[in-house]
Amino acid sequence: MCQCAPWALFKLKIALSHSPLHRSQYLHSQLQSFSITLHIHKMEKKVSALLFISLLTVMIRTGLVSADSESKASFKDHFNIMWSEEHFKTSEDGQVWYLSLDNETGCGFQTKQRYRFGWFSMKMKLVGGDSAGVVTAYYMCSENGAGPERDELDFEFLGNRSGQPYLIQTNVYKNGTGNREMRHMLWFDPTKDFHSYSILWNNHLILFVVDRVPIRVYKNNGKPNNFFPNEKPMYLFSSIWNADDWATRGGLEKTDWKKAPFVSSYKDFSFDGCQWVDPYPECVSTTTDNWWDQYNAWHLSNSQKMDYAWVQRNLVIYDYCKDTKRFDTIPEECSLSPWD
Ligand SMILES: *[C@@H]1O[C@H](CO)[C@@H](O)[C@H](O)[C@H]1NC(C)=O
Repeated sequence: MCQCAPWALFKLKIALSHSPLHRSQYLHSQLQSFSITLHIHKMEKKVSALLFISLLTVMIRTGLVSADSESKASFKDHFNIMWSEEHFKTSEDGQVWYLSLDNETGCGFQTKQRYRFGWFSMKMKLVGGDSAGVVTAYYMCSENGAGPERDELDFEFLGNRSGQPYLIQTNVYKNGTGNREMRHMLWFDPTKDFHSYSILWNNHLILFVVDRVPIRVYKNNGKPNNFFPNEKPMYLFSSIWNADDWATRGGLEKTDWKKAPFVSSYKDFSFDGCQWVDPYPECVSTTTDNWWDQYNAWHLSNSQKMDYAWVQRNLVIYDYCKDTKRFDTIPEECSLSPWD
C-alpha cells in the first residue's frame, strides 16, 4: 500500500488542478477515480477525504458538477446479447450486468447502434481469483464478426493466477490489420472494484482511458493513411471467452475449469458521440461544434500529459512500436508524438 503513496499524492495534486474536457462524463470519471484513489490508499484516507469533500464543494459551487446527473442507460435500450443468453444476467434493478464463462461457452453483447467519433465509457469489474486463461474484451468494431476489412479498437483484459497481476492489452485495427498491441499493468486490482474504461475517438486521435488516466494515445497524421480508423462507424461490444492458448504467460497458464463460472460485471455505460444514421449523419462532420471535435479533444491537457507520462514510465509492459525483433521497419504511426 505504502509503495503507492507518491502516486496518491501525485494524483491528488492533479485532481485538484485538473481542468476537464467539457463533458460531465469526464468530470464524473475524475471524481470516480478520485474516490477510488481514496479507497486504495487507506492510510491517507482521512486527509484525502477532507480534500475530496472540499474539491467537490468547489466543483459544485463553480458549477462544474450539476445537480441533475446523467440518466443511466438501461442495458436493453442500448445492447443486444450476441450469443448464449443464458450466460448473461442482470442485477434486480437492471443496472449491473454479468457475463459468465464456463467450459461450454462465454457470452457477449453489442450495441444496437453504430457510432463514429465521441466518448464511450463503461465501468467494469473483472473476474477475480484464479482467472488465468480468461479474457474479457471491451471493444469497438465496424463489423459483427472478424471480417477482413474491419476497423477495431480493443481493450482486452488478460486474467491471471490468483494474486498475479492482470494485464490490459490494447490494439487498433484498420481495414483488417491490427498488430498494434500495447500491454500495461494497472495501478489497482481491477477485480476488486468497478473502474471505468473509456475510448475517446475523433479524427485526430484515439485515447484509451482508464478511470481518468489516458494510458494510450494513438494519433492521426491528417493525411490519407492505412493506420488510423476514421471512416467506418463502429458498434461497441463486450465479451468473455477462453483464450488459454495465448493469454496468460503466452499460453503457459491454462484455464482451471474447476473455478468456473468466471464472471465479469458491467455498469454505467455512457456515450457522448455521433450515432450513425445512413447515409451520413450530420454530427459526423468535422466542422461542427461537437465537443469531441475541438482543440481540447485533439490534444492532451497538461494534467493528462502528466498522468500519461507516469503510465509510460511505470506501467508499460509491451509496446509494438519498440519491437524491432518483430518489425524490420517501425510502423509509420509510431513516429507521431502524443505530446503535440
Ligand atoms: C501473470 O503473472 C505473471 C507473473 O507475475 C506475469 O509475468 C504475467 O505478465 C501476468 N499476466 C499475464 C497476462 O500473463
